[in-house]
Amino acid sequence: MLDQAVTNARANRERQLNQLFEFLRIPSVSALSEHQVDIERATQWLASNMTEAGLEHVEIISTGGNPIVYGDWLGAGPNAQTVLVYGHYDVQPVDPLELWISPPFDPQIRDGEIYARGASDDKGQMFAHIKAVEAMLAGGGKLPVNVKMIFEGEEEVGSPSLEPFVVEHNDLLAATSGLISDGRIVDADTPSLVYALRGMTYMEIRIKGPSRDLHSGSYGGSVHNPAQLVAEIIASMHDRNGTVTIPGFYDNVCPLSTEERQALANVPHSLDQWREETGLDAPWGEEEYTILERTTARPTCEVNGMWGGFQGEGGKTIIPAEAGAKISMRLVPDQDPQEIARLFEAHVRRFIPADYTLEVLEHAHGRPAITPIDSPESKAAARAYQAAWGKSPVFTREGGSIPIVATFQKELGAPVVLMGFGLDDNVHAPNEHFRLDHFYKGIETIIHYYHYLGD
Ligand code: BES
Ligand code: MN
Ligand code: MN
Repeated sequence: MLDQAVTNARANRERQLNQLFEFLRIPSVSALSEHQVDIERATQWLASNMTEAGLEHVEIISTGGNPIVYGDWLGAGPNAQTVLVYGHYDVQPVDPLELWISPPFDPQIRDGEIYARGASDDKGQMFAHIKAVEAMLAGGGKLPVNVKMIFEGEEEVGSPSLEPFVVEHNDLLAATSGLISDGRIVDADTPSLVYALRGMTYMEIRIKGPSRDLHSGSYGGSVHNPAQLVAEIIASMHDRNGTVTIPGFYDNVCPLSTEERQALANVPHSLDQWREETGLDAPWGEEEYTILERTTARPTCEVNGMWGGFQGEGGKTIIPAEAGAKISMRLVPDQDPQEIARLFEAHVRRFIPADYTLEVLEHAHGRPAITPIDSPESKAAARAYQAAWGKSPVFTREGGSIPIVATFQKELGAPVVLMGFGLDDNVHAPNEHFRLDHFYKGIETIIHYYHYLGD
């Protein structure tokens, strides 16, 4: 069964790639409403591809937001385990477009990498799951476990519709474990199993002061400039060490144990790698923590964007009427996203003069997650990586967020395996790419995983 599935998968590589390219050509950007039709197209494309792959009960489910695509194969029977596979078909915006070497929705291969928005995050990785199941079912084949697949179109905006859907459809999604490929491994030769993801609170502030832009000569010196106010607020959020200074921010942070710090210190992660990936020389941030700890196990506060006043060519002498910023915070257990949002807002409010208005918007929310590393699922995953990569995985934490992981664990009681196949891959940036080789190895890792899990 295993050998046949691997043979099927290998024999179909060209077709798998052509299909992935079709998928990547659909610009399913969730953050921008102008792409709504592409979101719909992506769901239809997915549903028909899943049906063709042999999945059953395939359905495009409407939500208050972007649809969820569901399909399952329950042929292993009620006594077998059931794996809930999750992925997201939405992608990040592509700007700045001019920095792309080839157009973001015209996938191309260069140096063994597939270049396209979504190639790694997450279309290439989630599609590997459909192709793995297809290879196992081909020619009347079977899986040793039941599989349910759920793909959402709002992950990049914080999964606002999937959260309530999972809570309401416990029965449809009931599973013994979850499986997600939406992340990266340590390096091309070292696979990794991720046991922790950070959570997220994403806020936007808009400050309005004077009733209009003012001449900076006539009024400068008498008005608290909203753009300056935004700068003061932002500057107030960290100390010189890079520690966050929003009161109460660290109250619920679980300290790292000595054992865990030792284990993380053994994860291959070098300063040189950081330098190469960032184009920078000297890291910034909490001195008492390693870079890997800072980026995966410590909570942070980041300015994603700030604006206000004149951005055009040349000089224009004004005091802008308004200014704002988008600020996200990465959270670790046991920080609560709503609680952090309240602390953030309370901190910002203290800066606002009585006659100014502050508007606070909450964008994405996601709870941090920790997954078990000694479960039978983790062990099967480690064997599967070993089979496909020729090396057993290291256990590490991840700095990014996949908000639904905590929800799956809480609502379904299903431990989630985080089985990524990506690398740095310029995700969320221009020239996103995904190694072709990792796409194919990913398919084989998944096939092996089901095989070992069913043992
Ligand atoms: N796939 C990423 C999460 C991720 C990033 C995993 C880097 C591993 C490495 C996911 O698509 C993502 O970008 N999530 C957002 C969630 C947010 C909008 C709530 C993130 O982390 O910014
Ligand atoms: Mn993703
Ligand atoms: Mn992403």
